[in-house]
Amino acid sequence: MLYNLLAGKRGIIFGALDENSIAWKTASRVHEEGGRFVLTNAPVAMRMGQIDELAKQTGSIVIPADATSMEDLENLVDKAVEHLGGKLDFVLHSIGMSVNVRKGRTYMDQNYDWTQKGTDVSAMSFHKVMQTLYKKDAMNEWGSIVALTYMAAQRVFPDYNDMADNKAYLESIARSFGYFFGRDKNVRVNTISQSPTPTTAGQGVKGFDGFITYADQMSPLGNATALDCANYTITLFSDLTRRVTLQNLYNDGGFSNMGVSDLVMERFK
Ligand SMILES: NC(=O)c1ccc[n+]([C@@H]2O[C@H](COP(=O)([O-])OP(=O)(O)OC[C@H]3O[C@@H](n4cnc5c(N)ncnc54)[C@H](O)[C@@H]3O)[C@@H](O)[C@H]2O)c1
Repeated sequence: MLYNLLAGKRGIIFGALDENSIAWKTASRVHEEGGRFVLTNAPVAMRMGQIDELAKQTGSIVIPADATSMEDLENLVDKAVEHLGGKLDFVLHSIGMSVNVRKGRTYMDQNYDWTQKGTDVSAMSFHKVMQTLYKKDAMNEWGSIVALTYMAAQRVFPDYNDMADNKAYLESIARSFGYFFGRDKNVRVNTISQSPTPTTAGQGVKGFDGFITYADQMSPLGNATALDCANYTITLFSDLTRRVTLQNLYNDGGFSNMGVSDLVMERFK
């Protein structure tokens, strides 16, 4: 169902790699709801992904930016505002990557250069994005900034590795920068804590198949899909949620408040 919730709104969407990406689904839904945006991703991902196809489908342009590079981010924000013809109403940070996870290093055997790289990409980049937007005064009043996170920031999921720490840092940045963005510019900042989702980043986590089935069977509504996440994000970009800020919002079918479910108990009887 279409609601035209984002008519006249402009934004930037980070992190669409392929059609499984949560950012890809979000870009499609934002487009359907009348929003206009610039797509961006790291230059290296641009070669692997199919982002040009998404740009075609949604009438948008792609401006490459490594989200850890201030120079790239400054260029991106300047060009996006220029291309879209005014300040921004929404920004989606949908970025995550752990080199330790990629290279099979356990939590107890980190290569700290890789840990630092993962932290920069997955968490500090959110601060860098917001600092760039803030300093350039690039957000419209009552705009909305969303980043995606996972519940390993609060609870132990052993194979989530150093990404758990990165997500805790990301959520803290949302609150801390959200305060200043709210106080000074009436802009809201939230994180959505999403169910396990079969994407490139998601499937990189060791034991993902067991992990996603377990979450599904624990959740009264089952796992939230990438499309569910896109729809939730649309509401946070819309004018219907103007005073929701500094929140970590669970989009997880109820998983985060469960102790145990009948389905999971069955296995132990
Ligand atoms: N898939 C899941 O199970 C799940 C669950 C909860 C939260 N999340 C979060 O959702 C977000 C999106 O991930 P996804 O699952 O759609 O996977 P994805 O692999 O499709 O997206 C991750 C994106 O991060 C981009 N990226 C990596 N390094 C970058 C850099 N230096 N600069 C700019 N972009 C960079 C990648 O190119 C990719 O587009 C991430 O923050 C992820 O942690 C995912």
